[in-house]
Amino acid sequence: MTNRKRPKVYITRKLPDAVETRMRELFEAELNVDDRPRTRQELIEAVRSADVLVPTVTDRIDADLIAEAGPQMKLIASFSNGTDHIDIDAAAKKGITVTNTPNVLTEDTADMTMALILAVPRRLVQGARVLMDKPGEWEGWSPTWMLGRRIWGKRIGIIGMGRIGTAVARRAKAFGLSIHYHNRKRVNPATEDELEATYWDSLDQMLARVDIVSVNCPSTPATFHLLSARRLALLQPTSYVVNTARGDIIDEDALVQALRAGKIAGAGLDVFENEPAVNPKLVKLANDGKVVLLPHTGSATIEGRIDMGDKVIINIRTYFDGHRPPNRVLPNRG
Ligand code: DGY
Repeated sequence: MTNRKRPKVYITRKLPDAVETRMRELFEAELNVDDRPRTRQELIEAVRSADVLVPTVTDRIDADLIAEAGPQMKLIASFSNGTDHIDIDAAAKKGITVTNTPNVLTEDTADMTMALILAVPRRLVQGARVLMDKPGEWEGWSPTWMLGRRIWGKRIGIIGMGRIGTAVARRAKAFGLSIHYHNRKRVNPATEDELEATYWDSLDQMLARVDIVSVNCPSTPATFHLLSARRLALLQPTSYVVNTARGDIIDEDALVQALRAGKIAGAGLDVFENEPAVNPKLVKLANDGKVVLLPHTGSATIEGRIDMGDKVIINIRTYFDGHRPPNRVLPNRG
């Protein structure tokens, strides 16, 4: 780095050892070895004194916090793909650059989406629990016991055909699902051809025709409660909803109602509206076998987290070398 002084980098959560070691070598890094979530006051003190803040999805970097930033705060290099926890406009107004870590968690998140697409209709967790919780009660194979639903030959409707949505579509196609998608704009013809995908300009029309819905769009004001009570009512009673994006894209209370009333068959959720709190009604539905719940582990692989850390480091170094960091997040990207 051309800058003689090493930037003071405040990291809000524990990161993989390899990433922390590199950060210590390169920066004046303040790590969080205990992984205790930082308090609001600690974050305020950090933006008043550090040059770079490295938050993640569990930190709320809102306009009030950004207003506390001192003139030395130059960069918010988020350890995350999503940036809905950061007020990008407020940062831009304050002259603070924001970066994220795209690409490196695409395949892992798509894998976990596919795992949920399989787990709910095929009753994976319910079956496993028979052996884990009451092994002695299993009476052996039966032609009519523990039957799920076939996914081969069904239709998947992907909401948000960005990198992760496309990676989900590739996997789903290999599992014999036909691909339908709704996106702000059509993907390029080559990708559509490869996936034999049908584009739906109208989300409502797509929802009424698919068997599995996969939510893969970012959380923005425009996607808040995109799957509202009205839209969930468009789904068929045999359909499933899977969400590995952000909890607030689905109206969770409406989802609970729809599941309880049998208006949809099941759901697989890796993300929740009020994380880390999980709606007890969802937990009850999970115990009844209608829902599979995961604790936001869509991208949780050691390889992915090291790659994310590498991206954070590259963004910081590029910025302090006087260049535009590769993963800059621009305001108002919708
Ligand atoms: C992200 O980085 O946005 C993910 O939600 C973490 O899995």
